[in-house]
Formats: sequence, structure tokens, C-alpha cells
Amino acid sequence: LTRIAMEKPIGKDLASSKEVNDGIGAMFAEEQIFRVDHYLGKETVQNLLALRFGNVMFEPLWNATAIDHVQITVGETVGLEGRVSYYDGVGALRDMVQNHMLQILSIIAMEPPARMDPTAVRDEKVKALRSLRPMTAETVKTHSVRGQYTPGAVGGQIVTGYADELGQPSDTETFVALKAHIDNWRWQGVPFYLRTGKRMPARQSEIMIQFKPVRHSIFGRDGHGTGLEPNTLIIRLQPEEYIRLLIMSKRPGLERQVLLDEVTLDVSLTAAFAGQRRRIAYERLILDLLAGDQTLFVRRDEVEAQWTWIDSIIDGWKEANMKPAAYSSGNWGPSSAIALIERDGASWHE
Ligand code: BG6
Repeated sequence: LTRIAMEKPIGKDLASSKEVNDGIGAMFAEEQIFRVDHYLGKETVQNLLALRFGNVMFEPLWNATAIDHVQITVGETVGLEGRVSYYDGVGALRDMVQNHMLQILSIIAMEPPARMDPTAVRDEKVKALRSLRPMTAETVKTHSVRGQYTPGAVGGQIVTGYADELGQPSDTETFVALKAHIDNWRWQGVPFYLRTGKRMPARQSEIMIQFKPVRHSIFGRDGHGTGLEPNTLIIRLQPEEYIRLLIMSKRPGLERQVLLDEVTLDVSLTAAFAGQRRRIAYERLILDLLAGDQTLFVRRDEVEAQWTWIDSIIDGWKEANMKPAAYSSGNWGPSSAIALIERDGASWHE
């Protein structure tokens, strides 16, 4: 039996990805084709399934009733790293969002699959991906930010800008921030803010689930002045691996009024599983490939749903003539990325 593994780039848009998939599909059946997204090989990404579907207390709240918004950040401190010839003309949207970030988003957003098998899991993921609201030349202006790094400092090191590394000016983005909507029953009105970039202040990838405020505050009017805050769940994917739930607690003291403070329920996965050998993502994926298990590989319809949404953004950028805004290396993107979320009364978790 022949199995074939392929890794990105699978095309540069929907049309070219179909060409690639048609070409491979002419020779191999979908069951033989293993499309690698190495983020699916990461323990922390697989752990999202365990968190959501192995516990009773998250799933009932995992929807628009209890969740205000979701943030997904994948920050990298590195720059081009000599990958100029691949990266220029591709950019952060195609390099990171089309694949890794949308895979994370689909696992966060999907309906519970009936079982952990390749069809059940991928059926639910693709439904979530197909529910992404396409962008337009109008909405990209308020729902997307493109950035490109200029000289600056990362971790105390002076670094050059993208155009200097490239040797010429370029319209390729090295940072992107997006406000996405998933138009289905579960997520109506819940923005998913995504951001990823090179030359950020820290290599840090995490998911943040911001819950809504309690539906009625018994602590003064709207909890004003008492410290009452909505709950937050932070899932750190890398470099550390932890899950933190910020919950309200009474601040000890004799004040007449109950005062509240945020305390952290902290699960360090590194500590909980200390002594377990760390496996790299590809190790897991290659074993699954040998075993013929496609659960952690990307099905053709997922790739196409991902590209469909990404194409709407790229087309919007072209039509609106949106070029990347400059950001100094060592920052979380251009200031417009901060405005993107703060307009909605929220802020990036750092
Ligand atoms: C790759 C991208 O797919 O993922 C790179 O092409 C990026 O640009 C890398 O640096 C990030 O992977 P990781 O596992 O280091 O987060």
C-alpha cells in the first residue's frame, strides 16, 4: 500500500491548491494522501481536544452565551532566517494563518465530533472552516491589519528590517491581525481575533478565551469598584505549556464591602507530565502516517475551505490597495493591530 505525505505550500490560493490536489488525486485516493500541518502534531494542539471533550465543565460554556471573544496569537521572534526566496510574495497570511492558525481555530470552534476518528473529527473541522465569514474590500479595512518589520531590537539584539534582508522594498506582510467571525449558531456575535508575526517581542503562542461578565452582579452596581472581572481561560501552546483559568476570589480583609481579586487556577502541563519525554510534532505525525491514521492530517475539503477564506482577504487587500504598515522589530505589529481589537473594547492578552 502506498501512502503519500505532502506539506505546505499546497498552492498559493484556492485555484492553485485545487490543481495540486487534482494532480495528486489523479494518482492516489484521498485515503492515501496525508497532508501535514505540523501544528496538529503538537501535544498542546491535541490537548485542545482533551480539554474540550474530556472535561464536563467547559463544553456547556463553549459558545456565544458565555464567551465574549477568542484570541489566537502565534508570535515568533525570528525574522526571515534565509528563507527569502520562499517567504517573499507569500507572507504571514499564507504562511501561518491559512494553515496553522485556521487549524487551531477549527479545533476551538468545531462541534463535538462523535468519536476520535478521521472522518468524524475532520467533518466537524471543515464545517467550522466553511462558516468563516468571507471578507470584502470594505471589511478588510476594519477587520485586518498587515504589517512588515523594520529595524529594531528583539531580546536586546539589534536587528535589521525585512526590506534590508531582502535587498529591496516589498509588499509582503510579516505580520497579520484579523477579526474573524464564524457564522453559525454556536458562535454568533463572538469575534475570533487572530494575530501572528515575525520579530515579535516574544516567541509565544496562546489561545485566550474571554468569558462574558456574570449575568448579574451581587457586588455593587455591575461590580463597579469591587474588582469584579469576567473569567479568562489562557491556553499557552508554546514555549511553555499550561492552562490557566482566571477566577474571582474574595480579597482577604475586613472591608465592609466584598472586594474581589483575580486568582489563577494554574495547570502546568510541563510540571504535570515531568519526566515524560518531549516528542517533536513530526515524530507523532510520521508514526500516524505509518499506521495509516489520518485524524491529524488535513483533508482536501479543509484545505479548500481554508483557502476560500484566505482568498477573500487577499482579494480584499488587492481591491482596497492595502499595503503592509511598518512596525519596528520587537513590537506586536503596527499600532493599527492594537486599534483593531480596542475598537471593540477588548485588548490583546500579553
Ligand atoms: C512554518 C512556517 O510552517 O511554521 C514558518 O513556514 C514558521 O514561517 C513555523 O516559523 C513555525 O512553527 P513552530 O513550530 O516553530 O511554531
